[in-house]
Amino acid sequence: MSFRLPFLRKREKEFQESGKLKNIPSHVAIIMDGNGRWAKRRGFPRVAGHKEGMEATQRAVRAATKYHVDTLTLFAFSTENWKRPTSEVDFLMRLPKEYLHIYLPELMEKNVRIDTIGDLAHLPKHTREAVKNAKEQSKDNDGMLLNFAINYGSRLEIVRAVKQLIKDYKDNQIAIKIDDLDEETFSKYLYTNGLSDPDLLIRTSGEQRLSNFLLWQCAYSEFYFTDVLWPDFTEEVFYEALLDYQKRKRRYGGI
Ligand code: FPP
Repeated sequence: MSFRLPFLRKREKEFQESGKLKNIPSHVAIIMDGNGRWAKRRGFPRVAGHKEGMEATQRAVRAATKYHVDTLTLFAFSTENWKRPTSEVDFLMRLPKEYLHIYLPELMEKNVRIDTIGDLAHLPKHTREAVKNAKEQSKDNDGMLLNFAINYGSRLEIVRAVKQLIKDYKDNQIAIKIDDLDEETFSKYLYTNGLSDPDLLIRTSGEQRLSNFLLWQCAYSEFYFTDVLWPDFTEEVFYEALLDYQKRKRRYGGI
């Protein structure tokens, strides 16, 4: 994975010294779950959990940059989340703007580039503009890529890719025969085109499922599940996940 290279020398030195983490996942994806339960346990409205989840998000970003992860993909809003009450959806739609308002200066200082996967076209204008502005401002940063999945659903992503592929084929925009279509060509039609697949997928709150997140891309990812609810997520939890990852033997179907 070519874009790991700039970080390797720095990492090698640091981890040789610490003697602990020798194998840092290049791409970490997180399903940030448990905001509602966190709030309920405290007798707060669900949105208080999302608000606290925003702070946990920044703790995760800080930890990922500290350990020199190349890409951090966070599941912020799924295509299924529209089923929630309008007031909760409205709150969730305001969070990217609020998060970026507070933390964009720190992200810039950390040389983080911001990007998104998912269908932004159907988001409220204020959400789209906040995200667009952050992408634009950070586009030349060459540190960690912070990738928010917003209005993202993996099955829809795959159907969208198939549609576009058929269109391109019909319009002679793609110079291959159907029989030669391979995984590499297909994956170029996904939102994640150009990204490496997640090496490590973390899900908080004790749930152990993918919930329509990066189905294609997680084919060979290592999974780490923790009972910690997202608003309680800390650098220590991230570190635990990295430690656990050290033990994994990735064989990709080989021996
Ligand atoms: C899942 O918890 C969480 C979400 C659907 C929203 C994720 C949003 C954040 C973590 C806030 C930060 C976002 C940004 C853009 C900075 P849930 O509500 O499903 O929790 P529950 O399963 O306990 O009900």
